[in-house]
Amino acid sequence: MAWPAVRLCTGASMPLLGLGTSRARQNDCYQAVKTALDIGYRHFDTAEIYQNEKDIGRALQENFAVGLKRETVFVTSKLWMTRHHPDDVLPACQSSLTDLGLDYLDLYLMHFPVAYARGDNFLPCDDKGQRVTLDLHFMETWQAMENLVDAGLAKAIGVSNFNISQMEEVLTNGRLKPAVNQVESHPYLGCHRLLEYCTAKGVVMTAFCPIARPGTTGVMVRVRIRFTVHQAVSSFEKNRRAALEEKRSRGKNCTVTAPTPESSFPCSRCGRVCRSRVGWSNPPPEGVHQTSEEAEQYGVGSLLSDPVITEISKTHGKTPAQVCLKWQVQRNVVVIPKSVTPARIKENSQLFDFELSEDEMSAVNKLDKNGRLMWVWAVLFSKRLPWVRDYPETLDPDRTRKLVKVRLPKKICSAGNRWSPPK
Ligand SMILES: NC(=O)c1ccc[n+]([C@@H]2O[C@H](COP(=O)([O-])OP(=O)(O)OC[C@H]3O[C@@H](n4cnc5c(N)ncnc54)[C@H](OP(=O)(O)O)[C@@H]3O)[C@@H](O)[C@H]2O)c1
Repeated sequence: MAWPAVRLCTGASMPLLGLGTSRARQNDCYQAVKTALDIGYRHFDTAEIYQNEKDIGRALQENFAVGLKRETVFVTSKLWMTRHHPDDVLPACQSSLTDLGLDYLDLYLMHFPVAYARGDNFLPCDDKGQRVTLDLHFMETWQAMENLVDAGLAKAIGVSNFNISQMEEVLTNGRLKPAVNQVESHPYLGCHRLLEYCTAKGVVMTAFCPIARPGTTGVMVRVRIRFTVHQAVSSFEKNRRAALEEKRSRGKNCTVTAPTPESSFPCSRCGRVCRSRVGWSNPPPEGVHQTSEEAEQYGVGSLLSDPVITEISKTHGKTPAQVCLKWQVQRNVVVIPKSVTPARIKENSQLFDFELSEDEMSAVNKLDKNGRLMWVWAVLFSKRLPWVRDYPETLDPDRTRKLVKVRLPKKICSAGNRWSPPK
């Protein structure tokens, strides 16, 4: 039996549950997709930057060869920030299609509303470690994405990490409507206003990090130096290792455990990469690293052990992860939990044999505490910062300024920064 789906503004149907694939590569990713297909998943979320489109493609092709119909599978990919120039959009989409072995994408998203310098370096930075952006409005990119639909390469296009103002710009000025906005959302980051807005405009919301990446890092130490941030984000392995070595030799005393390469940032004080279970927008004092104990102390403990979630899970004989996912599905938000573990891929799919009561839905709604896991630092300093205006549930400017101790651009999404269609 097909799993429940939502209807996109294009008329197409999009399964409410998909498999997330970031940080899954090569054989792990291939195996995860094969397992998911066997279990019944028909929706896969990828992106050029995940560097796993070939692995997903291999798994899909094998299943197409034994009878799986292309039209029964929903595949999403995303345009990375270095491909925003209108001349780069078509080649980027074609390259994703080639790697996936598909003729069309069901959905192609603009990964972020910010453009980076063109080229094959996903995280371009200058000699000083500063990220290099391209001063290009996302509407220029959006227009090029609209052409992909005309050319039949994408059945639908959408956005990701866009706030209400930015969505408003696309809805007002675009020829085609974004079918989806994919954003971080879980019980600690309900995105209630954004969801209300999307629903009113007929745009489907997809929740990434729907179970808040248990066990991985969301370091929320106070990061105050722009350089450190960019260094962490942009010249990843090389710079990180060099910085670590250098700082380590200074003998600073911080608690450190093994880094999780894709999502760890060096501490601004000691330079070490620390690991915490989760990190919310309620950081411990500078230099203090979140251990489980500290996480509790600062009220930032793990979502999956939240007493409200665990209580509901016991009532239904379900796991906390299933409750988090069901809460989203029940409010018509698409979820794309990532797992490469067969038992979890299965667990995350067992959502359609129980219902949360109104009281339970409302109890989970109340858990919202502006808890953001994915702080994309490089975007934070852009004048097209996605999370500030009209998205205050996640990040408001004053709080952010205080938090990161940097001066954020004043004209964020202001009228002067708006795009006007060419006359
Ligand atoms: N548009 C964007 O900017 C953006 C940003 C981030 C993510 N995404 C998309 O959203 C997807 C999901 O987000 P995410 O991967 O960051 O976070 P997530 O799905 O909330 O968490 C994934 C992590 O949880 C573990 N896990 C999965 N199921 C579990 C369960 N039932 N119980 C306990 N642990 C479980 C996984 O481990 P194992 O794999 O080891 O099982 C993995 O480490 C991504 O894969 C990606 O496709 C999009």
